Amino acid sequence: MEAGSALDPMPLRGFKDFYQYAGSTRVISGRDLLSSTGFEFQKEGARRVFVVTDEVVRGTGLVERVEAGIADGGLEVAGVFDQVPQDSSTHVCDECAAAAKEAGADSFMAVGGGSVMDTAKVADAVFTHGGDAREQEGFFLMPREDDGMGRPIDIAPLACIPTTAGTGSEVSMAAVIKDPDEKVKIEIADFPLFPRLAILDPETTRTLPAKVAAATGMDAMTHAIEGYVSVDWSAHQDARSLHALRMIRDNIERAVQRGEEDEEARGNMLIAANLAITIALGSVHAMSHPCGAQFGVPHGVANAINLPHVIRHNAAGSDDIADRYRDIGEIFDVAEPEIGDALAAYVTSLVDRLGLPTRLSQVGVPEEGIPALVEGAMGDGTTLLNPREMEEEDYAELYRAAL
Ligand SMILES: [Fe+2]
Repeated sequence: MEAGSALDPMPLRGFKDFYQYAGSTRVISGRDLLSSTGFEFQKEGARRVFVVTDEVVRGTGLVERVEAGIADGGLEVAGVFDQVPQDSSTHVCDECAAAAKEAGADSFMAVGGGSVMDTAKVADAVFTHGGDAREQEGFFLMPREDDGMGRPIDIAPLACIPTTAGTGSEVSMAAVIKDPDEKVKIEIADFPLFPRLAILDPETTRTLPAKVAAATGMDAMTHAIEGYVSVDWSAHQDARSLHALRMIRDNIERAVQRGEEDEEARGNMLIAANLAITIALGSVHAMSHPCGAQFGVPHGVANAINLPHVIRHNAAGSDDIADRYRDIGEIFDVAEPEIGDALAAYVTSLVDRLGLPTRLSQVGVPEEGIPALVEGAMGDGTTLLNPREMEEEDYAELYRAAL
């Protein structure tokens, strides 16, 4: 029988023995939503809102408009924490949680990109349960009722207003934060981390610099592609990933190149990023996390560089994996028999058109850094979710190819 026939057993396509899917964030999407932040967040039980942001976003005037929206809905702004750095850390989360306690807040509203939203999530967990940010690490380890066997205990209400499109953190149950002492990124994922509310309004990405729009858009594209080929795939996420890719195909270049003038493309990219996010990722993220932790490479830039190399490597692993990439190729009109090479070439040319670097050496990664990067990638949780089993030598080869 021909490989890829509908009668073959297909590990990446059959009825799975098990998966679970959840998405409990209420999403509102549209125009002119910033003035109704308070009205909407009140419905999630918020009264005294602690706003988490960074200085760049605050400088755009967005935060003032959000604060006015909070007050307009009859809620109070308990305080504003604008000290989230580009690449946030466990220390910042602890400071943020302490500041929210001090301010007498009962809820959090994140206004910013992935770093801001992830900081708010972890700070909220510390605020609610005590301890420190480092202790929150792990998958499905947050406190539960009935001695850990029951329902996960809610954290304080959290609303997210993403200002990049994006990490999708506004609708995910995960956060990734740097532990600066250990120089690693720690990952935290559990149901209570789903924000209660996500507000998608293209006004929030109006002044986004083209480079940031490109990098964060490529992060979304990476989520959609990795989610679709991950061993942790699910039919639910497949539907989201493939539609996210259609929306990214139609909007990413418009959003990056026309930016401010193209509200429709910016709005659609916010939705695409939202659809693309999943915690079922793979070796692109495994390679990119240590690039960020060890060399400060922005997450989306690292993904944009590493993605084509991982596609090529994975697609050569089995017909089954190659078929999954073929589904993705169809969306981009890429249909050559060597799907890994063809899709990788497509991604590289897109990254180039978006004005992003295509090599790790262009963003400060030295050749001598490879062994430590390999170690980081092997230790990253997403390595276990990659469709092709990865050895140290595989990662070393991929990093060399990406250099
Ligand atoms: Fe990502």
